[in-house]
Order: sequence, then C-alpha cells, then structure tokens
Amino acid sequence: MNCDTLIRNANVLDGSGAEAQLVDLAISDGRIVAIGASLRHAAANAVEADGLSLAPGFIDVHTHDDTSVIDTPEMLPKISQGVTTVIVGNCGISASPVRLRGDVPDPMNLLGTRERFRYPAFSDYVKALEEAHPSINVAALIGHTSLRNNHLDRLDRTASAAEVDAMRAELANALSAGALGLSTGLAYANANSATTEEVLSLAEALIGANAVYTTHMRTETDAILDAMDEAFRIGRYAQSPVVISHLKCAGIANWGRSTEVLSTLENARASQQIGCDCYPYSAGSSTLDLKQVDPRVRIDITWSTPHPEATGRTLADVAADWGLSHLHAARRLQPAGAIYHSIDEQDMRRILAHPATMIGSDGLPWDKHPHPRLWGTYPRVLGRYSRDEKLFSLPEAIRKMTSMPAKRFGLAHRGQIAEGYAADLVLFDPDTIRDTATFADPVRAAVGIHSVWVNGTLSYTSQGLTGHRAGRFLPRARTEWVQ
Ligand code: ZN
Ligand code: CU
Repeated sequence: MNCDTLIRNANVLDGSGAEAQLVDLAISDGRIVAIGASLRHAAANAVEADGLSLAPGFIDVHTHDDTSVIDTPEMLPKISQGVTTVIVGNCGISASPVRLRGDVPDPMNLLGTRERFRYPAFSDYVKALEEAHPSINVAALIGHTSLRNNHLDRLDRTASAAEVDAMRAELANALSAGALGLSTGLAYANANSATTEEVLSLAEALIGANAVYTTHMRTETDAILDAMDEAFRIGRYAQSPVVISHLKCAGIANWGRSTEVLSTLENARASQQIGCDCYPYSAGSSTLDLKQVDPRVRIDITWSTPHPEATGRTLADVAADWGLSHLHAARRLQPAGAIYHSIDEQDMRRILAHPATMIGSDGLPWDKHPHPRLWGTYPRVLGRYSRDEKLFSLPEAIRKMTSMPAKRFGLAHRGQIAEGYAADLVLFDPDTIRDTATFADPVRAAVGIHSVWVNGTLSYTSQGLTGHRAGRFLPRARTEWVQ
C-alpha cells in the first residue's frame, strides 16, 4: 500500500488520555489512514520518530488570533508550540462581523488597530481566511461586544429589544456560516451595561444550533460565584454548553477561593454541560484597566499609544519616574495594555489540574511586549506542570489540549489520533520540551518540538517553518460533551 507520509516508531498519545503506544502511523490526503506496529506502506516521505511522543496537534481554545491568522499567516508563536488549531473570537470580541465607525472600542483593540478590521460580515472573514492560507486551522466564535458595536450608538447602555433582534439575526447568520457559538466579555466596560436579559435574548440564536456559549465572566473577583451563576443560567436558557474562559480567582482579596469556585463548577456540572479553560501562569493580561490598578500587584506595561517608551516597564517604575500615583500614571498611559500579576499560583494549579479544564493561551499577538503565554503555554503545561511538577500525567495533559477541546467545540475528526481523523500532529520530546518565553523576554520559541503536521503537511520542524501552510477554516460540527 502507498501513503504520503509514514511515521515510524512513535510513542503515540492518542488524545483520549490513554497511555502511549509505540506504533507506526500512515498519512494520506491529509488524513490518518493506518496505525499499527510495523506498517508496510510505501511512503513518499518516511520519518523515523525514534520513540519520541506523537500527539494530535494542540487546539488552542482561547485565542485572540482573529486578525493575526490572516495578517501573519505563518503563525509562528502558535505552530512553534505544536498548536495546529486556534479558536478565535473569545471574550466577546471577534474580528467579524464588525463595522467600525470611529475608534476601535476597548477591548476590541486587542485584535489590532483600525485597519485590521476588514470583515463586515462573517462570510467576508471566512473568505479572507481561505485566501490567506494560514499555517494552522481556525474556528471562530462570534463576540457579543462586536455585535453591540455594530448595532448600538454607544456601548455604555443596554441594547433595546430591536437592537437585540438585529444582533441575534446577525449571530444566527454567522452560525449558519459555520461559527462555533457566542462569546461574551461582560467584565469589560463596553459589555458590562448589557443586562443578563440582553444576553439571554441574544443567546436564543444558539437554541437547537449545537453551538457553545463561552464567557469572560462579569467578574473574576469578589462576586465570582454570582458571575458563574449568570453564565450557567445563560447556558440553560440557550440549551447550550458553557465554557468559562480563563477561569481564575483574580485579585489578592480572592486568593485561595479556587476550591470554592471549583466545587460550584462541579455542582452545576451535575445538571448541565459546563467546562472551562485556563492558562498556566499566575498573571493575566489585557488592556490596562484602572479598576485593576492595585499598588500591591505588579503590573507590567505591554504597550501604550501615548507613551510607547513605557512598554516592558512596570507601572510602579513609570509612576515613580513621573512622580504620580499608580492610578494617575495608568490614566496617562491609556490606551495601553498590561500584565497583572494578580493570581495565586496554588489557585492556578488547582484549576489547571481539574478534569473539566482545557488549556487555552489567551495570548495577545499584537502586544509589543506580550505576556509569555503567547509563545509558551503548551510546552509549559507539558514540561513544567506535567513532567517536572507532576500536576497531572502526560496523557492527561494531552487530553486537555486535544480531544476535550475538539469534542466541546464541535470540531469533527480533530483532536485524536485515530484512523480517518485529520493528520494534525505534533512530534515532541517529552524529556526536553519546555517553554523559554519569560516575562522579561517573552518572544521566544519553545524547545523540544520536533515536527508539526497540519492536515498531513509538514509545516514546522525544529529548524523552523517549512514554508508550507495547510490550515483551513473549520466550520462547526456536532458538539459532543465530555465530563
Ligand atoms: Zn478574557
Ligand atoms: Cu481572552
């Protein structure tokens, strides 16, 4: 028998959480066609894996790569980690459908400056993606804040019934073109005036659509349990699974509450479909928010429009130089981006290890001095948290990055190594894999990734990009819930 690529002697972690098996794997026409000991296929390309680990390509469930997959289609920060699929449109902000009038509203500016918003309809976005041929696959959520931008004259109020109707029609349209579901970012000022009823009414478009509801909740501080209840209520009403984005207990006053938060999650999971994602760092990052300025918390400036020279410095240093309070300095830096070292490591580890938790980077691709999660998330989970700290096994780490995301988001024939599945694959060395990006030096590729195939095409090796880009737009298929 013939095949395009034969990978010999790989320790295959199939994504299910099962232990590795030393086998060969044959790929043809972008799919896995055979798995077994000593395959006898004649192959155009033969790869000796020498016992390295072979896993399904990682699925980054939480990204803001909406415009970078088109404008920087090599997607080096992601493919260099073994990521073969990104889900865009998180936290209420999607690059489409968007029709801007003036400045880009916060936090849509995390997706880039004005000229990057070129997709008035979701179909325009899909078309641009197909023309750009990114190196990795892309699936997309539709952001509530983006819809508000299209239909409201100002974002500091609740939408009227007629405006919600228009937003819902636009969401339904995108869902029929293959969008995965709805995301909200209710914590942000430009969505916070939306009542629960506004979101419920909008989310009616999800009923019967087999779509998901993801949310950057209304708060991650004191009232986090109320915010979780709001998210669960929206999921029940929309008859849809809920994914809580970047679950964390933010702010010093909330440290130690992860046990309580996770038991609230578990109780609700008994009666409805709920999951979450988490990044493996004890610091968050977004636009610079005055409400989060706390002199006890280290804040790093990731970009600033009026003061680009502050990039990479701490807010405390900048404030000291200017002879201002932290809050005054922060106001002067805006619009700006920031990293907030406001999460307790133990809380983060507890959430990361929970069986309902998927891995999502939340990386910000346009930040001048980005949070290291953009380049380091997946190798850090595998190297630091699984191998070195033994927080969970290697097969479990892979499951959190592959089959669980594919099933929850409805990505058909992805996220597992099985016959008939897409040949999105990553070959890595489990003994050496590690992140090298740090808060001081964040733009650095991980080590230990040997080869990455996307839809059967070898796209990245330890030597760098191969020059072949084989990513696709992945429309929503049927979600399959995993407890
Ligand atoms: Zn968010
Ligand atoms: Cu986000």
